[in-house]
Amino acid sequence: MKAIQLSEVGGPEVLQYVDVPEPEPGAGQAIVELNAAGVNYMDVQARIGANNPTLPLIPGGEGSGIVVKIGEGVSEVAVGDRVAYTGAGMSYAEKVCVPSWRLVKVPDGMDIEVGAAAMLQGMTAHYLAHTTYPLKAGDTALIHAGAGGVGLLLIQMAKMAGAQVITTVSTNEKAAMAKDAGADHAILYADFAAEVMKLTSDKGVEVVYDAVGKDTFEGSLASLVPRGYFVSYGAASGPVPPIALSVLNPKSLYLTRPGLGPYTATRAELEERAGDVLGWVASGKLNVKVHGRYALKDAADAHRELQGRLTSGKLLLIP
Ligand SMILES: NC(=O)c1ccc[n+]([C@@H]2O[C@H](COP(=O)([O-])OP(=O)(O)OC[C@H]3O[C@@H](n4cnc5c(N)ncnc54)[C@H](OP(=O)(O)O)[C@@H]3O)[C@@H](O)[C@H]2O)c1
Repeated sequence: MKAIQLSEVGGPEVLQYVDVPEPEPGAGQAIVELNAAGVNYMDVQARIGANNPTLPLIPGGEGSGIVVKIGEGVSEVAVGDRVAYTGAGMSYAEKVCVPSWRLVKVPDGMDIEVGAAAMLQGMTAHYLAHTTYPLKAGDTALIHAGAGGVGLLLIQMAKMAGAQVITTVSTNEKAAMAKDAGADHAILYADFAAEVMKLTSDKGVEVVYDAVGKDTFEGSLASLVPRGYFVSYGAASGPVPPIALSVLNPKSLYLTRPGLGPYTATRAELEERAGDVLGWVASGKLNVKVHGRYALKDAADAHRELQGRLTSGKLLLIP
């Protein structure tokens, strides 16, 4: 089968379209023939070597398609099911082997590609808004990169919870998209902490959801209310340098660096989050914006667009 593989870390050009052996299912595994694989910023970070990946690597952590084979002891899905997943690697390929407990069924009538677009970023927005810092009416949240894949979904979930949303973006065009998603205020990054203080009458925000990292860390700290929550869930601009815990002390702040894995570590929690996200999408309550679709062989172009900050919403690879 065809897949995208990298044998060295580097620029988008290291994403090579190659022939690889088809996967076979072991016990508790299923083979999914993919209709779409989701592209996520973490794939860019894997490609540039941020987490010292083991090479060669087929990137990608999310997709949707049809179950074509199952291994021994699989009870969650059957051959022919329309499924979506995240939390299994090697998704930039025609077929992928997934632990069956990570597979959820795509609701009848829902475009199967939207399953690939909603799982990783949708469940991330879900755990951030509902579990890491459960938003409620009366809160104000600062959401960085509000026109991004996670950003657009997190804005919508924050509004569903009744919170006020201030979001940062890099262009006026992205500001309009973030406002369309429900943001009360969309501001540019320059001097954002001062702007947040102005918008909150010098009070600050109860929570900052920050996936930009290095460039926004200081301003995010300055934007919080005393005893506020700093949720640092990504590093699109580069990792936050080591900090002294004492920076949290003047306002008695909480700081967490969460990841999706521990928030979907059991079948029950995965089913609950995926059920909410896919259910909201199917009912029209949550809009998943697909920014673009690329043929699998053009994965490098998808990475160029995402890393170049030219997207708002989801990119998909179509095998
Ligand atoms: N911890 C978790 O569980 C988890 C799960 C999913 C994603 N993430 C993280 O969440 C972030 C968003 O992921 P995503 O897939 O939805 O990507 P995305 O937000 O669609 O794309 C990244 C966005 O970051 C912004 N950005 C700010 N500074 C940047 C820089 N120096 N270079 C590139 N982009 C920059 C850009 O928006 P502007 O142009 O508007 O600034 C860009 O569009 C990533 O950091 C990702 O690693 C974390």
